[in-house]
Amino acid sequence: MMRITIERQPLEQIEAGALIVLVFEGRKEARFGAGDLVDAGEVAGKSLELTLLHRPPGVAATRVLLAGAGKPEKFDPAELRRVAGTAVRHLKSKSVKNIALALDPEHADGEYAAAAVEGAILGEFEPDRYKTEDDKKSVEAFAVAAAGGAAELDAAVARGRVLAEAQNFTRGLVNEPANRLTPAKVAEAARQMASEYQLECEVLERKQMERLGMGALLGVAQGSAEPPALVVIRYRPAQTDSKAHLGLVGKGVTFDTGGISIKPAEGMEKMKYDMAGGAAMIGAMRAIAQLKPAIPVTAFIPCVENMPGSRAQRPGDIVTAMSGKTIEVINTDAEGRLILADALSYARQQGATHLVDAATLTGAIVVALGHLNVGLFANDEAMRDRVLQAAKAEGERMWPMPLEDDYKEYLKSAFADLANVGGRWGGAVTAAVFLKEFAGDTPWVHLDIAGTAWLDESKPFLAKGPSGVPVRTLVRLATEWKDW
Ligand code: BES
Ligand code: ZN
Ligand code: ZN
Repeated sequence: MMRITIERQPLEQIEAGALIVLVFEGRKEARFGAGDLVDAGEVAGKSLELTLLHRPPGVAATRVLLAGAGKPEKFDPAELRRVAGTAVRHLKSKSVKNIALALDPEHADGEYAAAAVEGAILGEFEPDRYKTEDDKKSVEAFAVAAAGGAAELDAAVARGRVLAEAQNFTRGLVNEPANRLTPAKVAEAARQMASEYQLECEVLERKQMERLGMGALLGVAQGSAEPPALVVIRYRPAQTDSKAHLGLVGKGVTFDTGGISIKPAEGMEKMKYDMAGGAAMIGAMRAIAQLKPAIPVTAFIPCVENMPGSRAQRPGDIVTAMSGKTIEVINTDAEGRLILADALSYARQQGATHLVDAATLTGAIVVALGHLNVGLFANDEAMRDRVLQAAKAEGERMWPMPLEDDYKEYLKSAFADLANVGGRWGGAVTAAVFLKEFAGDTPWVHLDIAGTAWLDESKPFLAKGPSGVPVRTLVRLATEWKDW
């Protein structure tokens, strides 16, 4: 774990393996030996451009890393998060263990300081747990250097650390292969996290699901030798006058083969990340436990493995969901909406007044939005705006998608109340419309993270693999909650 501190002494006196200095486009940085490079046009301050200097005169740090921050008018905490991540990843590759980042006085506020810490911790993460080489590099210490920084920085830096560590916790879970992270193991990880942070954790087993009538969830689970688990994690504030109770519902398919409607072999190994929504909820609860928002929050994570086999459900099977609705299972690969249907019903039964779900739900959302935006669907405008606002503040990009009743047509079944798939077109929308049937009149937002929860290529500021989206948005939603 990285040691995180604030340095308030003059930048020149900071002892570190490297001091990161931001260079803006169009501003002639002359400090720290940058002057000649800027004059020669070698350092332009373009976003994420890096130039490493060794032992520049007059500086206690061993190195200065000039880090391009782009145009000053475009600079914001999200950009600083990326710059810090990029710089830390670069320095880590050079085995630098002790890093400080200089914040200019104009950016020495809480949002920027938190973003710098987040960028560093998120950038440091590597999904290399199962590589056995014994000389893995790691950054040991990161300091935000803000000469004369205000007292608000301490709380902000602590918050940034909590958020980024929670996000990395989620990334670690998502990265676990399905042989090591079964539904029971997700439950165990949740239990352990909950006991560490004084949250309440309960795990519903098959028997209890049967008693509750969760036929949709159980139908998906029946094909696997691994028993299902519905993980419930509760946070309750010490005192609150809020009437709201936030429910976080996350898809926890530890592996999605497609079931009898089996997926092609090509790329199937990636389907270990089909529990990224559930892992995001567990990570969010980890941060919420530490940041202690004023509203009660409960996470509901239905965990199953979607397998083919002699016990598996078949296309054409009709299941009865907890809500009483019957569903014709046309395609067993559309399993996420089935398990979420029952989890949403249970969350409402447990008293959630507002719901957010996150799920790697459809390939169609990747077709629609690529890998840049989470698809956001809502049955309530105020709730949609709350989530969009939190996402914007956290630099997690989300794009509103339609959710009109007319789409329900697509889910018509001749034999049951609804079918679990809606034909060829608008697949992300029909999946969301299916879920809407189970959210009822509870204000609800659905986040389709199939395109954003996993990076196929690394970015300068983030390793390839699990991204940890949308942990930060969920935590901000909870911590900034106000009844209206
Ligand atoms: N887990 C998949 C969705 C998915 C696809 C996530 C690609 C990440 C990357 C989901 O369970 C699924 O298989 N959905 C089907 C639905 C279809 C059968 C209507 C899909 O998107 O193809
Ligand atoms: Zn599937
Ligand atoms: Zn799936």
